[in-house]
Amino acid sequence: MKSADIRQAFLNFFEQHGHTQVPSSSLVPDNDPTLLFTNAGMVPFKDVFLGRDPRPYVRATSAQRCVRAGGKHNDLDNVGYTARHHTLFEMLGNFSFGDYFKREAIQYAWQFLTVNLGLPAERLWVTVHVSDDEAADIWLNELGVSGERFSRLDEDNFWQMGETGPCGPCSEIFYDHGPDVAGGPPGSPDEDGDRYIEVWNLVFMQYDRDAQGNMTPLPSPSIDTGMGLERIAAVMQGVHSNYEIDLFKRLLASAAEITGQNDIHQPSLRVIADHIRSCAFLIVDGVMPSNEGRGYVLRRIIRRAVRHGHKLGVREPFFNRLVAALDEEMGEAYPELHARRAQIEKVLLREEEQFARTLDHGMRLLDEALAGLSSSELDGETIFKLYDTYGFPYDLTADIARERNIALDEAGFQRELEAQRERARAASQFGARLEADLDLEGATDFVGRERLIATGQVLTLLNDQGEQVEQLEVGQSGAIVLDETPFYAESGGQIGDRGTLTLPGVVFTVRDTQKRGQHFVHLGEVSEGVMPAQAAVEARVEVPTRHAIMRNHSATHLLHEALRRILGTHVQQKGSQVGDERLRFDFSHNEAVTPEELERVEAMINEQVMANTPVTTQLMTLDEARRLGAQALFEAKYGESVRVLTMGSDDFSIELCGGTHVLRTGDIGPVKLVSESGVAAGVRRIEAISGGATLRWFRDQQSLVTRLADQVRARPDQLESRVGTLLERNRELERELERNRARLASQAGNDLLDAAEDIGGVRVLTRQLEGVGAKELRGVMDQMKNRLGSGVIVLAVAGDGKVNLIAGVTKDLVDRLSAGSLVSAIAPMVGGRGGGRPDMAQAGGSDVSGVDNALQAARQWVAETLEN
Ligand code: ALA
Repeated sequence: MKSADIRQAFLNFFEQHGHTQVPSSSLVPDNDPTLLFTNAGMVPFKDVFLGRDPRPYVRATSAQRCVRAGGKHNDLDNVGYTARHHTLFEMLGNFSFGDYFKREAIQYAWQFLTVNLGLPAERLWVTVHVSDDEAADIWLNELGVSGERFSRLDEDNFWQMGETGPCGPCSEIFYDHGPDVAGGPPGSPDEDGDRYIEVWNLVFMQYDRDAQGNMTPLPSPSIDTGMGLERIAAVMQGVHSNYEIDLFKRLLASAAEITGQNDIHQPSLRVIADHIRSCAFLIVDGVMPSNEGRGYVLRRIIRRAVRHGHKLGVREPFFNRLVAALDEEMGEAYPELHARRAQIEKVLLREEEQFARTLDHGMRLLDEALAGLSSSELDGETIFKLYDTYGFPYDLTADIARERNIALDEAGFQRELEAQRERARAASQFGARLEADLDLEGATDFVGRERLIATGQVLTLLNDQGEQVEQLEVGQSGAIVLDETPFYAESGGQIGDRGTLTLPGVVFTVRDTQKRGQHFVHLGEVSEGVMPAQAAVEARVEVPTRHAIMRNHSATHLLHEALRRILGTHVQQKGSQVGDERLRFDFSHNEAVTPEELERVEAMINEQVMANTPVTTQLMTLDEARRLGAQALFEAKYGESVRVLTMGSDDFSIELCGGTHVLRTGDIGPVKLVSESGVAAGVRRIEAISGGATLRWFRDQQSLVTRLADQVRARPDQLESRVGTLLERNRELERELERNRARLASQAGNDLLDAAEDIGGVRVLTRQLEGVGAKELRGVMDQMKNRLGSGVIVLAVAGDGKVNLIAGVTKDLVDRLSAGSLVSAIAPMVGGRGGGRPDMAQAGGSDVSGVDNALQAARQWVAETLEN
């Protein structure tokens, strides 16, 4: 019976018994912060059980997609290790909302299993809650279930949706897969085996549990049941493992093909086949990989799948390519999956690529750590490093460690996490101290929009510990607060100004300006004289730097508006950093901006620059600004009156902004977009330069072209065709080299065969080869073994301080002589290590002078081994 037929038979059966068919809901529960994912068929009915959501029916039936990864019901760690756990599965259920109760629920279940599906009663096993005499009586006395296949359990027979919500005692039905499968009946010590598999859970919903654990009776006793489609399909299709059912066949085959495996029974393939289902449906239901909540669970599942691919030797993105097979298998039953296939592939690919960058390094670190372990526990520091530097979620490391029977020091990992938070807190303390100690009245008057030189009264002088001092000596760093300043303090993404604060004979060099409350703090050091705490200093902003910052800031506004006009009004600012060297702008957009789009954006900005219109600022209320259609940051807090900046022809850009800007757009100078990248799901980043930086950029490009042209001896305008010719020539030479090497190798092989000597009745050939690359050694060995028919061959190639040894033993001799042992015996003579299979083994070493000795030793080893 196919899975689809079982699903249909179930729904039909309950429909015939007065149940309304309800379609599967999303994996993301509607408005329910207590639940990570829909983890049972009853989740969409939670409020119906609680009496808060009246429906036109009192009986319902559904096939609901469920995810059990993260949260209360979490099977992620088991997937791949058992025959029956999945991240995503389909739950068949029938529900009664204050209508029928235990007796009918039990009768329906028994009838469907034994009559409709025709399962023999003697293969079933039933459990009830220890306290539930009523259910026990129905099973044993009314339905005649045997007491031999019946048990009463405690916690296992009390079901709750999550920490809070509807719950109640339950009764479970197990299928016995027979004595060939390991495992004991429910309640026995080895119940976790795969022999007795729970197929159906009947929950007698009676209570609503609150966060304190109090149980309030539901408005009326109800029924919630759940049968895993994959499990019952395994039973009906006569297989022991869910992975052998029809639903998984195509997925496994596709996983094997994409990862290049012959054996489809490998656990890693099952993990991949399982995970593609949950990942794809989570994305269908709107979850995106991220660093918290649902998104982080999705990320963990994707990374676990990618790691299992890595384990199979796959080094290219592969996971996204499985969506096609999934679509073929389930796209018809779930049209939303089919419709969003391309998007799912894109999201997975992006996540795979991102993780691939660190996976290899992380695996190496972990392998080394595991190899060097003196106990059976991996230390918290390594787990943390993997997490922090290489993006390995804790449970991914646990998954790998489990394969090697290593436990994890979770407490140690938590300590490292806490220590990192502590370090972050400490780093922000200088700032915090400044904040605390700046016990000042009033505010700094900022005059830096109008002029770049001003006289300011020192309000406070602080040393580098944030303590108030009477003076700062030359060489000392610290901070100065003024009552009036032309220095812009970092805010709204624009960096703080640099410059000097001077008195006759005294210079304080300002490296950065920050805002603390209403005050501007100039941070830097005394580079001449002694700075007193009471003084009126001359404050001068470094002009070229500030001008460069203003150009970049105004360019940012033009960029923002150009992006909105070319990509669409969904573009919203997600972050911005305006410095003197470049600007960085993050914005919401779902895919990479294409080169053509970038070109149009750049052209639009530069047109506005060339139009050279005045930049104007107006103060108004936030409401007035809104009416004008000004762009504002949704999250930012604005005061009573806001500053609205307008620039470009026909009021091209209107934006709320407190930063400093050029007077006319022409002042910005040429603008060049220099990079485009993704920073998070749905967020892109553009970096750009303006003014003198753009001119320098073009100059650098030009000199690069000139240097390259010189190198290949061509004029710059011939560069392209010249490089094309060189590449073509290079490919030809490579092909020729390869042909020559192969010819040499096979010649060398032929000549050598005659040189084989007889040792103890076995033909043995040992030789150092010239003109053969290490890469060709295996091929040469295979050919020579074929020609030799029977014997032992040991070959060496040496050069550049590297030695490669290879040993081969023909099939007929592998019982007596092992190439692996031979190579490990002689490798030390070339300063190396190695090993391999009995018929072929390789070693690398660094001592070229030891080659002769090693070959000599090989002959000796054969002689001695044959004697023993
Ligand atoms: N809600 C019950 C379960 O998930 C049926 O097992």
